[in-house]
Amino acid sequence: MPSFQLHWFSGTGNAHKAAQWIAEEVASRGGEALLISIADEIKMPGSPADPEAVLGFCYPTHGFNAPPLVLKYLWNFPRGRNAVFLLNTRAGLKLSKLHVPGLGGLALWLPFLLLWLKGYRVRGFRPLDMPSNWISLHPGVRARVVASIHRHCRETLRRFSTRILGGKRVLNGLLWLPLDLAVSPIAVLYYLIGRFMLAKTFMASYRCNDCGKCIRECPVQAVVRRYGRPYWKFRCESCMHCMNHCPERAIETAHGFVFLMWWGGASLASLALMEFFPFLYPGSTEVTGLAGYAGTALRIGIRLLVVYLAYHLMHFLLRYRWFNYLVTYTSLTKFGFWRRYRAGQVKS
Ligand SMILES: Cc1cc2nc3c(=O)[nH]c(=O)nc-3n(C[C@H](O)[C@H](O)[C@H](O)COP(=O)(O)O)c2cc1C
Repeated sequence: MPSFQLHWFSGTGNAHKAAQWIAEEVASRGGEALLISIADEIKMPGSPADPEAVLGFCYPTHGFNAPPLVLKYLWNFPRGRNAVFLLNTRAGLKLSKLHVPGLGGLALWLPFLLLWLKGYRVRGFRPLDMPSNWISLHPGVRARVVASIHRHCRETLRRFSTRILGGKRVLNGLLWLPLDLAVSPIAVLYYLIGRFMLAKTFMASYRCNDCGKCIRECPVQAVVRRYGRPYWKFRCESCMHCMNHCPERAIETAHGFVFLMWWGGASLASLALMEFFPFLYPGSTEVTGLAGYAGTALRIGIRLLVVYLAYHLMHFLLRYRWFNYLVTYTSLTKFGFWRRYRAGQVKS
């Protein structure tokens, strides 16, 4: 049996767990699988793969796409002729007895294209619907449901691995192609804009004891200490690692403040502009052509500037207990029913 190299990236452990399950299947057949952390390799790129090895890539779906870190890794990956397979974990949920799948968008297809263009022979690809970790959007999945989804996924991966290890092709990711393509415009918007906005929603509550775990463990080094507290830079991929691994449960998504900053602050700035510079608003005075575009660009720019300034102001003011309480208690993630999720300890 050829050796296996399983390259993984994971925020909360789903993709890591999937890579481990595949490694166990390989070991149970007397083979060997090496797990390679993409986050670590990107800092210290290793040597090219053994030409005989089968390469696997396991990673989560972020905004209907592969995480930017994974795309960067594949972009820089050396050319080769190895057999490869791709596995993207998506947001699986369970409604009553029904397993509800996530949606991958370009998460399989861009990596597929990159590897194919580099000469690799793609032997298989499929999505895997592990429990959703996007707890900025919804409460973490209950432990009982997590256990059930894990069992279901384990069995799916056993069948997937059996075929891949047997040298057969697995192309059932193709079933998703029409839906994936339909959401691809959203994937592009998320990649260009959405992910930067999401990076601006995290905050360390008054429970933070400055242990530095979020700073040390961030896979993309996006958390730094600024204004005396953890601060999320634009490069944050919102992978949810920090929020789900904080030992003090001190990291929150600042829902209330973000709403105020994105809609309230930006709309006020817009109103003020309308009052003082009416020529920027084609609706109020008829401005068309180049002047119209320039006005639109300026208005978007000013909204972004307001968000940027408000974000800095929030992190500056978080040192004051009253302000920290205000932001913390207007965050949904603060409340007990808003569970956290992690599939296991992610060790790179
Ligand atoms: C910022 C963000 C964006 C996400 N976008 C998607 C998505 O577009 N489609 C989907 O099915 N799941 C999405 N998810 C859910 C994760 O892909 C899913 O829970 C994955 O299994 C997490 O894997 P990990 O634990 O290895 O990070 C998203 C999660 C996050 C945090």
